[in-house]
Amino acid sequence: MAKVHVFDHPLIQHKLTHIRDVNTGTKEFRELVDEVATLMAYEITRDLPLTEVEVETPVQTAKSNVLAGKKLGIVPILRAGIGMVDGILKLIPAARVGHVGLFRDPETLQPHEYFVKLPSDVAEREFILVDPMLATGGTAVEAVNSLKKRGAKNIRFMCLIAAPEGVKVFTEAHPDVDVYIAALDEKLNDHGYIVPGLGDAGDRLFGTK
Ligand code: URA
Repeated sequence: MAKVHVFDHPLIQHKLTHIRDVNTGTKEFRELVDEVATLMAYEITRDLPLTEVEVETPVQTAKSNVLAGKKLGIVPILRAGIGMVDGILKLIPAARVGHVGLFRDPETLQPHEYFVKLPSDVAEREFILVDPMLATGGTAVEAVNSLKKRGAKNIRFMCLIAAPEGVKVFTEAHPDVDVYIAALDEKLNDHGYIVPGLGDAGDRLFGTK
């Protein structure tokens, strides 16, 4: 079964409170999402493999660790996921960036992909799929389907705020994909918004309404 990790670091919680605040404007909202994405990237990379090398310090030769060169990929779900990419790239600049775009069929309400572009060596990469909100779970489930269909074998899903309903749907659909969140909120409302949430993440990031 998928594990759900809640990153409750004080800095993440502090910044998330300002992200939630209705009085936080677009510029500050975008900066805060970027900062939280960096902090979450720090936590999510804790288990990256290391390899020992020799390094010449000004004093002597020493054995020391460097990253073992695991290939990583970041995949934002369009459009709000884009707001988290730069913050992650600050810590993992060599990661490749793919994109997944999904739209909801107005009749069936089912998500369908309209754009998918991934690095060519999909099967060898470990992917961090990102979207600020895990609401009903439908979009995130379909985004993982899109990655798996193209050969992705190793995927983690990272978001800022999740609803319990979305976590259940997602972890049942993809028990092999661990979920990393900054907060688990109370519920979804009748319009599919997370309560208390932060409103529409895409609109707040890009200043649309
Ligand atoms: N998407 C959002 O941007 N906000 C929500 O609360 C739910 C889905």
